Amino acid sequence: MGKLDGRVAIITGGQRGLGEGVVRRFAAEGATVVVADLTPAESLLDELGGAHRAVAVDVRSAEQMDGLVQDTLTRYGRLDIVVNNAGVMDSGAEVADLTDAEYDLVLGVNVRGVFNGCRAAARVFRGQPRGRIINTASYIGKKAIAGHALYSASKAAVISLTQALALELGRYGTTVNSICPGTMYTPMWVEKLGTFVGEENPDVEQWRHRAAEGIPVGRMGTGDDVGAMAAWLASDDADFVTGAALNLTGGEAVFF
Ligand SMILES: NC(=O)c1ccc[n+]([C@@H]2O[C@H](COP(=O)([O-])OP(=O)(O)OC[C@H]3O[C@@H](n4cnc5c(N)ncnc54)[C@H](O)[C@@H]3O)[C@@H](O)[C@H]2O)c1
Repeated sequence: MGKLDGRVAIITGGQRGLGEGVVRRFAAEGATVVVADLTPAESLLDELGGAHRAVAVDVRSAEQMDGLVQDTLTRYGRLDIVVNNAGVMDSGAEVADLTDAEYDLVLGVNVRGVFNGCRAAARVFRGQPRGRIINTASYIGKKAIAGHALYSASKAAVISLTQALALELGRYGTTVNSICPGTMYTPMWVEKLGTFVGEENPDVEQWRHRAAEGIPVGRMGTGDDVGAMAAWLASDDADFVTGAALNLTGGEAVFF
């Protein structure tokens, strides 16, 4: 018996990286999963089997996010969990060099996208006895880093939005939490490695090893780690956990 047997979950950015880890773990725990991504591939679903779906969605569009939620309700007759995980990293440029287009992209996906998912979910969860919203923030939302002002600000906004929504939805039986991963080994990290380390063609394995040395548990985090935390937050075991911004850093950064 899985922790999430019979539950229906939407996971944005579920096609790869941390979101894929959540998709795989939720499916293993018995949930039916809707993978919502810009261009989701059926191959992941074929591998998982079951009644899972892949839906092409841009989280920046309120219309598409509302449609995704309604479509899920129509097809499955229920919605229990929404994981707002889709996100983008910024270019690493200093604030003085940032463009309006980059502002719109980073804040559009990381903040408006999470807001769109939260609002669509809240409209449903207000009318049922139980619901779960889980947002992927970052430890960088608690501790800004130089050269990543837009990303830092966007993730602080996710943490604060999560807290405010938790205060609103507690009385409806819905919990709202954010996960704050540290440095995680995903396609995003590989693609942005050059901007983090200031090299044009960085040696990924070498930097992965160096990153692990700076993490007390001795490795970078993965989608499996996020999947495990998200599955717990989505389960009945976490009924009393809401408004939290849970660190998932292997000790890389320790905060309240
Ligand atoms: N990798 C890390 O070190 C790290 C650390 C902390 C937090 N995070 C956060 O975790 C989340 C996932 O990161 P990741 O490393 O797995 O990234 P990733 O780039 O590997 O995967 C992100 C997924 O989101 C999808 N996506 C992007 N924009 C979208 C949009 N507008 N609409 C729908 N889907 C969209 C992408 O297609 C992709 O499948 C992000 O919110 C990221 O900010 C990542």
